[in-house]
Amino acid sequence: MSDLLNNAKKAAAHAAVDEHVKTDYVVGVGSGSTVVFAVERLAERVRNENLKIRCIPTSFQARQLIIDHKLILTDLDVDPVVDVCIDGADEVDSKMTLIKGGGGCLLQEKIVASNAKELIIIADYTKDSVKLGDQYKKGIPIEVVPIAYVPIMNKIKQRYGGNIELRMAVKKAGPVVTDNGNFVLDWTNFDQDSDWEKINLDLLMIPGLVETGLFIKMAAKAYFGLKDGTIKQTG
Ligand code: A5P
Repeated sequence: MSDLLNNAKKAAAHAAVDEHVKTDYVVGVGSGSTVVFAVERLAERVRNENLKIRCIPTSFQARQLIIDHKLILTDLDVDPVVDVCIDGADEVDSKMTLIKGGGGCLLQEKIVASNAKELIIIADYTKDSVKLGDQYKKGIPIEVVPIAYVPIMNKIKQRYGGNIELRMAVKKAGPVVTDNGNFVLDWTNFDQDSDWEKINLDLLMIPGLVETGLFIKMAAKAYFGLKDGTIKQTG
């Protein structure tokens, strides 16, 4: 990944952690490459400022990051109210609707975010979009129970058009299996002028469809790291 992109991710992550994390907070830790910089910054603040936080992971990756950085690990059983959740996104449109799940972690990300007082998005400049699909071409991820993947693919194609594919693993013969033992479908070439709130609700009514990567009216703010090292804030 280019230095420009990494610097943009880091700048966004640091700005969000510095602005939104306070002592005694329960922090939801998102997944993906940008969140790595946020966890590094959280650990730095714990060391330097004696910041006291407990962290709830949104994936296997997030759990490992929390452990590796010697942060305190908690969960929704112990801490059902999350003060702030900091997470990346694959795309953020002008209404703050997000596509998430490029890394396949959408279900736990949405659970933790929905229990957070604030969801703060950190991203580089390539994620800032007007309409979903302008920037991110890999589609909207949809987590499904394995036995239902074919009927769900057919239903989505029939109802809304576009292309839908089962996400395949890279270092394994067969599909990607999520942290929850499910499959992921990627829906591309959808109508960019769709009513995402309505479609999201319709999709969630399909038996076997566990969750969508559409995060609607959930994010409070997005921090985008720009090429020149500055930050753009929306929300
Ligand atoms: C993980 O499944 C995703 O929802 C990530 O949050 C999203 O893909 C952003 O990842 P990057 O920070 O790596 O772009």
